[in-house]
Amino acid sequence: MKRQRACIIGGTGFVGRHLLTRLRAAGYHCIVPTRRMFRHRDLKLYPDVELCELSPTVGLEELFADCDLVVNLAGILNESDGMTFEAAHVELVRRIVAAAEAAGVPRLLHMSALHADAARGGSAYLRSKGQGEDIAQAASMAVTSFRPSVIFGRGDSFFNRFAGLLNMAPGVVPLACPQARFAPVWVDDVAQAMVRSIHDERTVGRRYDLCGPRVLTLKELMRYTAARLGKRVWIIGLNDTASRLMAKLFGMLPGAPITLDNYLSMQTPSVCEEHNALLQLGIHPTDIDTVVPTYLP
Ligand SMILES: NC(=O)c1ccc[n+]([C@@H]2O[C@H](COP(=O)([O-])OP(=O)(O)OC[C@H]3O[C@@H](n4cnc5c(N)ncnc54)[C@H](OP(=O)(O)O)[C@@H]3O)[C@@H](O)[C@H]2O)c1
Repeated sequence: MKRQRACIIGGTGFVGRHLLTRLRAAGYHCIVPTRRMFRHRDLKLYPDVELCELSPTVGLEELFADCDLVVNLAGILNESDGMTFEAAHVELVRRIVAAAEAAGVPRLLHMSALHADAARGGSAYLRSKGQGEDIAQAASMAVTSFRPSVIFGRGDSFFNRFAGLLNMAPGVVPLACPQARFAPVWVDDVAQAMVRSIHDERTVGRRYDLCGPRVLTLKELMRYTAARLGKRVWIIGLNDTASRLMAKLFGMLPGAPITLDNYLSMQTPSVCEEHNALLQLGIHPTDIDTVVPTYLP
């Protein structure tokens, strides 16, 4: 039987690498375009993964030829070095959809974000993710979009980032947006939801909100991380005015730990309001306690 082929844009990233494991286990030959081949050479070790160059001039239609599935995971949390939300979340999705349609790809999985909304999103990030999601959903093939809260797991930029900050902290950590709420969802639950949806007709045309089982504030999450690391730190939650100011000032630094747009995103609680689609997809959401101790030292 012919092996199924999948092209995963953003397959080199945190979610992408976990999804690759699941897709390979499901028998897919995976094509992974990247703008930075040198960084991801390790992927060449897998015989069922094809790492290839991605640039604005590369013809996506050629990459998608003979693919049974295209997955779009490309995304950025902050704009930098000329990479805008518009380019990464909107224009790229237009290109992907047009190429997938031209190549006759029958299935598209699109990664959006919880509360992404083209018109009412609270930040430029959420509005651009909403625009991209709408473009993907309007494509002519079978499409499913995924809208996770913050995603955790080995290699994440969430608990690992907190750990980095706490390891540098001299006993005191000023924290912007301490009351912002999140429902951290495990990366493997997200990957499993995506893979399960591929051949499930009921998921076609749907947009799935994905959350973990527990809602925690940013301050609680920081305390949780400190406890795991065995660090005694004083976490000072800043009020709204100070949080906004900190985000604005830090946002001007390269590699900023927080930006004004992150502050705006956090004004919308990153929690599932109605349904957590993981349950609908038959996945019992995994708690942070089950996984975080396995990768946070
Ligand atoms: N992590 C979370 O907590 C979270 C929560 C909600 C939604 N999401 C969404 O989930 C997706 C994956 O997130 P992640 O955490 O895995 O991010 P990540 O680790 O930063 O990976 C993002 C990937 O996207 C690719 N990429 C970024 N900008 C691109 C562009 N302009 N053109 C082509 N490729 C581009 C990068 O590939 P190369 O650098 O190799 O080219 C990278 O592999 C994103 O769409 C993100 O918005 C993530």
